[in-house]
Amino acid sequence: MTPVISLAQAAAHVRHGSNIGQPLTRRDGVLKVTGGARYAADNHPAGMLHAVLAVSSIARGRVTFLDVQAAKGHPGVVDVMTPANRPPLAEDPDAKTNPFMFRLDLLQNDQVRYANQPIAVVIAETLEAVTEGAALLSPRYEALPARVGLDAGESFVPPAVGVGNPAEMRRGDVEAGLVAASKRIEATYETPAQYHNAMEPHAIVAAWDGDTLSIDTPSQALVMAQGRLAGLFGIAPEKIHIRSPFLGGGFGSKGLLSGPQVLGILAARLAGRPVKLVLRREQMYGPVGHRPPTRQTLRIGTDGDGRLTAIDHHAKTASSTFDDFFEPAADASHTLYASPAIATSHAAVRIDTGTPMFMRAPGEATGSIALESAIDEAAWACGMDPLAFRLKNYAEVEPISGKPFSSKALRECYAQGAAHFGWSRRPLAPRQVRDEAGCLVGWGMGSATFPALMFQAEARAVVRSDGSGLMESGAHDMGQGAWTAFAQIAADGLGLDIDQVEFKAGTSDLPDAGIAGGSAHTATAGMAIHNAGAAVIAKLADLATADERSPLFGAGNAGVVARGGRLFRRDDEGRSESYADILGRAGLAEIEASGTGAADPAAQSAYAMHAHGAVFAEVKVEPDLGQMRVSRLVGAFAAGRIINPLLVRSQLLGGMIWGVSFALHEQAVMDRRSGRTLNANLAEYHIPVNADVPGVEALMIDEHDPHVNALGIKGVGEIGVTGTAGAVANAVWHATGIRVRRFPIRIEDLVASASS
Ligand code: MOS
Repeated sequence: MTPVISLAQAAAHVRHGSNIGQPLTRRDGVLKVTGGARYAADNHPAGMLHAVLAVSSIARGRVTFLDVQAAKGHPGVVDVMTPANRPPLAEDPDAKTNPFMFRLDLLQNDQVRYANQPIAVVIAETLEAVTEGAALLSPRYEALPARVGLDAGESFVPPAVGVGNPAEMRRGDVEAGLVAASKRIEATYETPAQYHNAMEPHAIVAAWDGDTLSIDTPSQALVMAQGRLAGLFGIAPEKIHIRSPFLGGGFGSKGLLSGPQVLGILAARLAGRPVKLVLRREQMYGPVGHRPPTRQTLRIGTDGDGRLTAIDHHAKTASSTFDDFFEPAADASHTLYASPAIATSHAAVRIDTGTPMFMRAPGEATGSIALESAIDEAAWACGMDPLAFRLKNYAEVEPISGKPFSSKALRECYAQGAAHFGWSRRPLAPRQVRDEAGCLVGWGMGSATFPALMFQAEARAVVRSDGSGLMESGAHDMGQGAWTAFAQIAADGLGLDIDQVEFKAGTSDLPDAGIAGGSAHTATAGMAIHNAGAAVIAKLADLATADERSPLFGAGNAGVVARGGRLFRRDDEGRSESYADILGRAGLAEIEASGTGAADPAAQSAYAMHAHGAVFAEVKVEPDLGQMRVSRLVGAFAAGRIINPLLVRSQLLGGMIWGVSFALHEQAVMDRRSGRTLNANLAEYHIPVNADVPGVEALMIDEHDPHVNALGIKGVGEIGVTGTAGAVANAVWHATGIRVRRFPIRIEDLVASASS
């Protein structure tokens, strides 16, 4: 059942005529805080069984034995799915026909390719029975030594990085630029594997009715998931109904359907009854993607004036042995700094790990912490303040492509962020400041950037004879506020108050809203919604202006404007007519139209499109214990038109806190012997808690960008993590004088030499 999202907002939040830009609270907020929001695993269709994955405890080898009889003998256990009885698929899960298609582990054989790979699925009447049954499988293995870490195998140049980006790019002569430089730095930075750890684990409730499949499962890209399942099961996409009204976070891990979700569907097929399968927390460290480790070397040259002469950014990363995802970390150096010579290159190694995947700002996050650290080191080598150095060197045309930026708002981000933070009081040298408690205080900064992307989306708009509106687009709310932001765009597109607009999203039967990823959802689906609204209003205007009984007769389509449920003549606003009257006279119950959202290729070839920002961090370091705390964080971001400042602020704060996490907390610790993640849980996988981030402020810098799309929308989901991680690392250096180049920065990196 599609959830009912209340149409009514608190009266104080109702705006007449212009909904875009208003700080409306979430339309689904009451449902969420009262437990009324139904997440995938909250669904319990009649006759539902429970399924639990059994996962491999080795990272490489094969399964030689599973005690299926013991598991099946446990009371309540209905069946055990193994490679021996897994229902057939129409498509090989190891087939790959495009870079967005990832290989899945669906019990195709006895091979183990990484730790926590699914090796069986137990199905039972209750969660207790299935959990106990899975424990009775007692798998045995033939294990091979696990290959772990960036040096575990032969290094190669990946065929592409990210999705189809060249692994190597250059502009200008980097070696010549380095030779000509009066100052040079070379430094190597390491970032660890990280896991998405969405609050809501991957979950699925699957029910078959003949060859029709209904599933409740979180998805950041419903129609892509539908297409993948259609291929795997050999059925038409229209026979697959996916409901994903709410996601408890995704961060990229729910962008593409994962293997465990498909296993839930296969279990329902095998059992002939609906099945629920929910990953346990530790099972999310393997089959559902992660951010791979990187080792990045930057060489930067500067001339006597502190201007960049060269940036060389090389990144080594790791992918799985059986699939291709290569973190595009070095690409972070393509856009921010105006070096006449830039070279980026990637190398990779294959290790015994689940395939890495997009994780919030994939490439930009990892690359940014290395680049911003190196820029800081270059500034210090020149004896320059890091802000002054960036102001001298930030790019006004995109260095790698030579295209002008659609905006030059970065300068404004530097200025307003620095003023708000009080940056001008920063002493140049490190280790100069202590607070009243004796802690070392340091200030650091970083530049933020993220591309303003658009994919493809569709929407359908309806105006009904009672004057109300309906907008449909199968959009995805991962927690970012899509239910609300899209309703705001819909209301303005339809010329209605937001409480007159019903907005439907979150199911695969609606028009394709594309993917909620790449920070592109609001721009892409938002433009589809805006265009659908405009199209239906144009139809209404055609009806009215062609009808001599209408006060708008003869005004022409372009001669009317929609507002508050009425069309007005532009040349005489005293003459108007309500939508209800127009439809009523035409004898129509409703009128509908569709719209699409997509990038404008002409604008894209003429301009480089990015959101920008500047982040300033203060850290305090306890000199004897090396304990670090971020005490203040100020980010200033220019990200085009802000649809809802309340929601955008939350996105930026979340991204910035993730940046703190990147610099100081997050790391999947690998056991080099077993190839397993030692801290595969939320107790030992460190993320910041409230006490770790006392003060965070996000300033939204006004930016009108006429080129990105008609509404001027850029993305805000991912930019916050870029810039912030480097700012925190640079602040740690400024506090202590110690440059730590392996992340996260640990107490032991500081404690030996921090005390004075
Ligand atoms: Mo994001 S990593 O594009 O979901």
